[in-house]
Amino acid sequence: MSIFKKKEQAERVLPEHIAIIMDGNGRWAKNRKMPRSAGHVAGAKTFKTIARYCNKIGLKYLTVYAFSTENWKRPKAEVDGIMNLLRDYLKDAENFKDENIRVRFIGNLEPLADDIKALIDKNVEGSKNATGLTLYIAINYGGRDEITTAVKEIVREGIPAEDITEDTVSAHLYTKDCPDPDFIIRPSGEYRLSNYLIWQSAYAEYWFSDILWPDFTPKHLEKAIEDFNKRNRRFGGI
Ligand code: FPP
Repeated sequence: MSIFKKKEQAERVLPEHIAIIMDGNGRWAKNRKMPRSAGHVAGAKTFKTIARYCNKIGLKYLTVYAFSTENWKRPKAEVDGIMNLLRDYLKDAENFKDENIRVRFIGNLEPLADDIKALIDKNVEGSKNATGLTLYIAINYGGRDEITTAVKEIVREGIPAEDITEDTVSAHLYTKDCPDPDFIIRPSGEYRLSNYLIWQSAYAEYWFSDILWPDFTPKHLEKAIEDFNKRNRRFGGI
């Protein structure tokens, strides 16, 4: 159930594509004198709640930042912990079947473990006909890496320089099949993009909050959407 009353819900405009930086898991755990891995476990739970809620309210696209190209620098135990959470989520294929959520992935998936890659293929294939939310999970994702990869591909295809437009670049990004995010949410009190969807977010609205990701609830999401509705989006016009 949405926390909005029916009438209010009918009147508000949903963003088309919300992108979330799931930040603050480590601090959440530290505040509780728990290991960082416990923060990621709680963060994964929040991720599932929010994805389901987005589907329920009729959002078209949600992208979550699960693991960045820079996150490999973390201690091996922490990296393994996040990969295991991803594994658990992917194994639970029922996640998608009953809920009509179409799941896709962005990022350089090549360095991931073979079993994770196989699970990813299975989930993408198994949910491809879903008509509800399209959920993009960003893994080993970095915006600069994505743009560099796109440039290499454009050069390999031999597209003449004078024919290259912004659309050419967009069409070579991992996100080529979905609209640019119009709303970026970052909890945890940080005010930066951290290499997330840097090309795609050129005209996005941003919403920041001190709440740590494991504490983020559908109520916070509704507050963010309410604030989105107050923004005046001009796209460079007047
Ligand atoms: C950032 O918080 C969070 C991450 C790097 C990992 C996010 C992963 C999950 C929420 C779980 C796995 C996801 C799926 C899709 C099952 P941080 O650790 O940088 O927090 P801190 O800034 O407080 O240290």
